[in-house]
Amino acid sequence: MYKIAVLPGDGIGVEIVPEALKVLQAIALRFGYEFEFNEALIGGAAYDAVGHPLPAETLDTCRNSDAVLLGAIGGPKWDKLPVQLRPEVGALLPLRKELGLFANLRPSVLFPGLVHASTLKEEVIDGVDIMVIRELTGGLYFGEKKREQTSDGGQKATDILSYSTFEIERIVRFAYEVARKRGKKLCSVDKANVLESSRLWRETVNKLARDYPDVETSHMYVDNCSMQLIRNPRQFDVIVTENMFGDILTDEASMLTGSIGMLPSASIGGEVGLYEPSHGSAPDIAGQKKANPLATILSAAMMLRYSFDLEEEARLIEQAVRTVMEEGYRTPDLMEEGKTLLNTEEIGDLVAAKIRIL
Ligand code: NAD
Ligand code: IPM
Ligand code: MN
Repeated sequence: MYKIAVLPGDGIGVEIVPEALKVLQAIALRFGYEFEFNEALIGGAAYDAVGHPLPAETLDTCRNSDAVLLGAIGGPKWDKLPVQLRPEVGALLPLRKELGLFANLRPSVLFPGLVHASTLKEEVIDGVDIMVIRELTGGLYFGEKKREQTSDGGQKATDILSYSTFEIERIVRFAYEVARKRGKKLCSVDKANVLESSRLWRETVNKLARDYPDVETSHMYVDNCSMQLIRNPRQFDVIVTENMFGDILTDEASMLTGSIGMLPSASIGGEVGLYEPSHGSAPDIAGQKKANPLATILSAAMMLRYSFDLEEEARLIEQAVRTVMEEGYRTPDLMEEGKTLLNTEEIGDLVAAKIRIL
């Protein structure tokens, strides 16, 4: 039996998480496992219910589980709260930190059926398969932050970006190990022409490169990388980068797959892995059954792979998604002429049905 903490959160989080549970349930039935789902509050929903976006009970539930499945958090309703009570800073970042999840894997894979769904040209994106590894518990997100008054009556705001050798080595080694099992190419992305933290990052990568002679190492500045991802994404295999660069580059890389609604993520490195789509709570479409649940469903597949070592089952979920896409069923974010428009639940039902018959 596997115990899974389920944190739907806010906005479309409550619509997409049940679809992933449906798919996990189909896996459980087919392979004879039992998944115990323990739902807990997080984000704005938790703040509204109990006055804090990350209640102690939620953290306990996560710690006492084998893995965590999260929908999304945040939204305009909670944007004006004091920063420590905001879902992003008050819940998601501490959850990642508390669980020690320093490695965030965001695979950008184009499913063949979606080659015309992206705003980018087929010849550019066909065959894209990139793994972005984002450092998740350091950098700007976790550095000191302050606000001061200035003598001219204005204010000064500061966010510190720092990385230690230990933190860099840990994520870069992790990325090398992943690259070794894939296309054996690692591109480290930084801003070493300007930032001291990036210079230490680059030096550290160069030192570790000697331990991985079988992996081709390259470096790229983040501004160039954001351009290269659109110009020729197939040049990349594994990208490793610091927290904020990884956040931005992965939203960009999501369009190589057709939609941000296709980009899953796994956050690992601690005792309990956290699996969530890379996108947010999408307030603009929340409550309308328009959300694409596939990023969350594919995150559940990553849970099976990375937390439970159930590779065959993970692949079956990915195959089910691929088949549904090839058959032309779409949520609005992926819609093109000649395809069939479905809502969030209908897509989830179809994927679960494929799990039973494939
Ligand atoms: P967002 O990712 O929520 O939405 C960006 C755009 O992508 C919107 O147009 C949205 O409709 C669309 N989109 C996102 N997910 C989709 C899906 N599954 N299917 C179809 N369309 C989808 O980013 P945002 O609008 O900048 O942020 C909204 C809120 O979400 C903010 O409060 C932000 O802080 C929060 N956020 C949370 C997470 C998280 O929980 N991990 C991640 C990013 C943003
Ligand atoms: C993500 C989100 C979060 C991040 C926010 C909501 C804190 O954008 O998971 O990509 O920046 O890590
Ligand atoms: Mn993001």
